[in-house]
Amino acid sequence: MADLANKSVLVTGAAGCIGAWAVKKLMEQGARPIVFDLTDNRERLDLIMDDAASVTWEVGDITDYERLCTVIEKHNVSAIIHLAALQVPFCKADPITSVKVNVVGTTHIFEAARKFGIKRITYASSIASPAMGDNDFLATLYGAHKVCGEQMAAVYWQDWQVPSLCIRPGVIYGPGRDQGMSAAPTMAILAALFEQSYTIPFSGPVAFVHVEDAADRFVAGISLDIEDALVFDMQGTEADIADVLIDIKQQIEGADIHLTGAPLPFPHAPDDGRLDALLKVVPYRSMRDGIAQTLDVFKKARAKHILTPERAAQLIGKNI
Ligand SMILES: NC(=O)c1ccc[n+]([C@@H]2O[C@H](COP(=O)([O-])OP(=O)(O)OC[C@H]3O[C@@H](n4cnc5c(N)ncnc54)[C@H](O)[C@@H]3O)[C@@H](O)[C@H]2O)c1
Repeated sequence: MADLANKSVLVTGAAGCIGAWAVKKLMEQGARPIVFDLTDNRERLDLIMDDAASVTWEVGDITDYERLCTVIEKHNVSAIIHLAALQVPFCKADPITSVKVNVVGTTHIFEAARKFGIKRITYASSIASPAMGDNDFLATLYGAHKVCGEQMAAVYWQDWQVPSLCIRPGVIYGPGRDQGMSAAPTMAILAALFEQSYTIPFSGPVAFVHVEDAADRFVAGISLDIEDALVFDMQGTEADIADVLIDIKQQIEGADIHLTGAPLPFPHAPDDGRLDALLKVVPYRSMRDGIAQTLDVFKKARAKHILTPERAAQLIGKNI
């Protein structure tokens, strides 16, 4: 594994859930994360770290190739963690913008890597990608865009030897997860803590990945010399929503949380271990530990008034 100390690492979409944690993890390793995001909202970073204000932040749109190149050159970027994307509901609501962000934006990352000779790239695909094709899972524009990204990565390796590591996360949960189709389990923890009633709108088994475990793997990916365009599933810890509710209720007395509806229409399976074997990272935490950690972060943020009852109600409300 390469030492990331003092290396500039561009993290696209770093105001988001996984990105905020990737920034925290990079800083812990002495690297210099450069946030590249549409927004300058540091709320998710404030939730999980004390020094968010000190993070180097470049507001930019991944659809703007010139701006992306300017930032990479300015900071002498040597690795990229590419996370910026629109999630399932936003792709459905605005297909043209989502092609620009999820497909053209990803092309910009590979083009910039080719231009600047950047050889360390991890990027997020999704379990929505293998859901495309001949199976009973839900086909989505989001999944189609992710498949396109994976296929472009293969061609960038074949034609120009731009290497990459693609990670296909399952359902991310934990502090900072507050938007997208599958944010509901995290919202159930938040609602229970703030004594609100909440119903998760799906059931069944889910491939859960705690956001810190996910970030660890995206960061570990840019520590490796890779000579290929690799693609890995990140299934984490498979658990049934009904059991997750039991776990939450055991940890928060009086939690008024429920589930309804059909199983989530995306692949789930025990993690195949291939990604972890490559990255040599510590195993995924149990759901019980992941829920406990999430609660702990929420409680600390509440004590510091970073997470107020009003803000919690807004986050929960946008996911009902
Ligand atoms: N959350 C999950 O369960 C999950 C599961 C599988 C894959 N993924 C993938 O992981 C990645 C990160 O997910 P997340 O949950 O952290 O997402 P998120 O929605 O929390 O954050 C995405 C970030 O991207 C930024 N962004 C959007 N459009 C942009 C643009 N045009 N230019 C620059 N920045 C832009 C947003 O401002 C936001 O901060 C995404 O690629 C997502 O598709 C997430």
